[in-house]
Amino acid sequence: MQRILVTGGAGFIGSNLTLALQERHPQAEITVVDDFRSGDFRNLRGFQGCFVSADVSRLDWSARFRDETFDAIFHEASITDTTVHDQLLQAHDNIEGFRRLLEFALPAQTPVVYASSAATYGITSGVNREDQAPAPANIYAFSKVHLDNLARRYARRTPSWKIVGLRYFNVYGPRETHKKAAASMIYQLYLQMKAGRRPRVFRAGEQKRDFVYVKDVVAGTIAALAAPRSGVYNCGSGHPFSFNEVIAALNTALGTSLEPDYFENPYSFYQPHTEADMTKARNELSFVPAYPPASGIADYVKILESGTV
Ligand SMILES: NC(=O)c1ccc[n+]([C@@H]2O[C@H](COP(=O)([O-])OP(=O)(O)OC[C@H]3O[C@@H](n4cnc5c(N)ncnc54)[C@H](O)[C@@H]3O)[C@@H](O)[C@H]2O)c1
Repeated sequence: MQRILVTGGAGFIGSNLTLALQERHPQAEITVVDDFRSGDFRNLRGFQGCFVSADVSRLDWSARFRDETFDAIFHEASITDTTVHDQLLQAHDNIEGFRRLLEFALPAQTPVVYASSAATYGITSGVNREDQAPAPANIYAFSKVHLDNLARRYARRTPSWKIVGLRYFNVYGPRETHKKAAASMIYQLYLQMKAGRRPRVFRAGEQKRDFVYVKDVVAGTIAALAAPRSGVYNCGSGHPFSFNEVIAALNTALGTSLEPDYFENPYSFYQPHTEADMTKARNELSFVPAYPPASGIADYVKILESGTV
């Protein structure tokens, strides 16, 4: 790969992806497009490529990149705060941003890997498979369902073009600090425990989530380029892990023994269990996550404690 475009590269996953691509392909020209609405320039420390500050949903792609072609496009840009309830804004910026990008990539059939989400499955419990019907519970999830729909439509019209979506589950890892309240539960609990406080979770901490380490997400996203055809794939760890288990893993990594501080769950329904079925990703992308949650958390805490990110 000589020319790579990453949207949302100043964000959590996008910056980890950009820096990993730079390391793997030192000769490649990497371009990042981001408008900093939730990203942070500090995530791109060490990035030697080209930065374009623009909103992907308003950018005139053809004018901006006139004669430039890319060997691959990774689309991570999105409003990611699920508490943004402005339906027009979420739908416009997320869906139209993707449509513009696809229109730009279409003539050269540049392979596109884009970030979908486990949120497309809705408030279900148990194992999620890619062929499940979507059930978006909020406008963010709705926008992601329409990314999948758009990708399917463009791929059907141009079967030789590869457009691959990844349904990320609960991602955690370095370079998520800027997300503040929207950062992972693992990071929130780490901060509480680091400050010497008992970690607060809903009673009785047995709710399970498919937490996936960002290093695995980066590996899965790059592996998606080699997908045999267009389609959508789960990207989780495949190991549901309870909040109590997260706290135990953080205690081990931090050398503490803080007990959970349980409080009543104010929600009438709260997903008891999320889990990615990773069969399709394993069979078709040869993608097997390397970090079960306990090892991902250990690695993450080591990085946080080193103060390097
Ligand atoms: N983190 C997770 O657990 C998770 C789970 C499922 C899906 N995802 C998806 O993964 C992708 C990356 O998420 P993240 O966790 O890194 O979030 P993030 O908020 O850290 O990153 C998103 C980046 O996109 C940029 N951006 C947003 N809208 C833009 C626009 N219209 N034009 C240009 N730049 C724009 C932001 O400034 C930010 O840098 C998103 O598409 C998100 O929906 C993330």
